[in-house]
Amino acid sequence: MAALLNRLSKACLTSTKHNFKISTYARHMSNIPEDTVYGGPKPQNPDKRVTLTTLRAKHRKGEGITMVTAYDYPSAVHLDTAGIDIALVGDSASMVVHGYDTTLPITLEEMLVHCRSVARGAKRPLLVGDLAFGTYESSSQQAVDTAVRVLKEGGMDAIKLEGGAPSRISAAKHIVEAGIAVMGHVGLTPQAISVLGGFRPQGKNVLSAVKVVETALALQDAGCFSVVLECVPAPVAAAATAVLKIPTIGIGAGPFCSGQVLVYHDLLGMMQHPHHAKVTPKFCKQFALVGEVITKALSEYKQEVENRSFPGIMHSPYKINGAEVDGFMKELQKMGLDKAAAAVAEVAENFVGDKIQ
Ligand code: KIV
Repeated sequence: MAALLNRLSKACLTSTKHNFKISTYARHMSNIPEDTVYGGPKPQNPDKRVTLTTLRAKHRKGEGITMVTAYDYPSAVHLDTAGIDIALVGDSASMVVHGYDTTLPITLEEMLVHCRSVARGAKRPLLVGDLAFGTYESSSQQAVDTAVRVLKEGGMDAIKLEGGAPSRISAAKHIVEAGIAVMGHVGLTPQAISVLGGFRPQGKNVLSAVKVVETALALQDAGCFSVVLECVPAPVAAAATAVLKIPTIGIGAGPFCSGQVLVYHDLLGMMQHPHHAKVTPKFCKQFALVGEVITKALSEYKQEVENRSFPGIMHSPYKINGAEVDGFMKELQKMGLDKAAAAVAEVAENFVGDKIQ
């Protein structure tokens, strides 16, 4: 505790934004997803791929770092297009994509599928992949092996792991030593709900608040390039941000972090279904109500298919000219398929040649 207070007061006396030791935290990574014969979306700023150097520069200048979760190709393309700095393939996929109540059930294999899809869609953001529950807790060796797979098979640039128990700090250190950039995660760590007693905010009393800061410092000392602070009171996040040299990324941790992260589905207001509305966290601002748009579009589609107004001429683009239609009808008649020929004759007036736009 005394050591922590000492570090905190030192941090308050000197500006932490300008005394960053690049050698300690430097790590450049940018896995380029494979090209395909079809090509893919080009990065919005091909020469400005986000690396740890980019993040350090933003942090030094006091610019907010943006991180959003992504789980698949379209969400990744959207993040890239919007210029988001970090795409986190979060194990929240377990809840918002797979429909589980917690992040515990998702497997490494499932996470790797999400990682690869995101790597194909997000060419510019730094790609961070969560280590799934049960894939890194047994030993530092297991943690390194899993982290390596997330980079080699998932195409990620870095990994994130939760918690700050000594074994977790050791795992983070070993992963960094293996050449893999690590993001820490403290405060509410959803993989630990079993011991936390549910999705509960952390740092609400002196002991717990100090633990949040101490754990973040330990993760920094282990070589992490950044730490997520989840569901802690704003003053606790402010303390951690002041004392750390690496950027803090807040979620439900108030405005005094170096950057912010939100879950894609939450920030877009995707989950308008009552079951999901219930799990959208109260700290999350819904920047859109995409769920309402989706439900409205699906209802209109259903209605138009049922009343046969979709697809009309406009969405029936493939042409056949009059001569071919005549020949086709004759063939059908020769085959004894008069009913089919009559069907062609009935629609030909509207769906032949130039009449189709
Ligand atoms: O999995 C996730 O989405 C996360 C964020 C909440 C930081 O870990």
